[in-house]
Amino acid sequence: MKKIKVNGSEHTFTEEQEESTLLSFLREELRLTGTKNGCGEGTCGACTVLVNNKAVRSCRYKLGRAADAEVLTIEGLIREDGSLHPVQQAFMDAGAVQCGFCTPGMIMQTLDLLHKNPEPTREEIRKALKGNLCRCTGYQTIVDAVQLAAARMMPSAQCTTYGQ
Ligand code: FES
Ligand code: FES
Repeated sequence: MKKIKVNGSEHTFTEEQEESTLLSFLREELRLTGTKNGCGEGTCGACTVLVNNKAVRSCRYKLGRAADAEVLTIEGLIREDGSLHPVQQAFMDAGAVQCGFCTPGMIMQTLDLLHKNPEPTREEIRKALKGNLCRCTGYQTIVDAVQLAAARMMPSAQCTTYGQ
């Protein structure tokens, strides 16, 4: 049995499961369906989660690689009191959510960006999110949302929360 921590909770998987994807483990085994399956080929970003604080495409990430890792999904961002993470709230407030299919991946990619660069320019935001596709918004409001989140999270920028 291998161990994996997801949103602060420990889980196990078998050797036979190691070749399956992290995405299928999250969605089918743990029923964490906030992480979306868009292209299944690593090109749309809908399946983005954090593994040890780094954004990965979970549809292309073998479960075996995540042994002993800490995984954070969109479900792990909600605070214990039910309030949204500042990045989630900023996406809502900036009108960056339409159908919402791309939103979990966008938000997890944003966390990765703000962890590395707490005050990104619009150009840096566009570059960081260029692998995350959105069919609805035209991207302007998404860039607005990331800037809003960055401003709200300064000076105490937090990248992971696990319900804090
Ligand atoms: S579903 Fe993983 S990148 Fe599209
Ligand atoms: S809000 Fe619909 S794909 Fe982005």
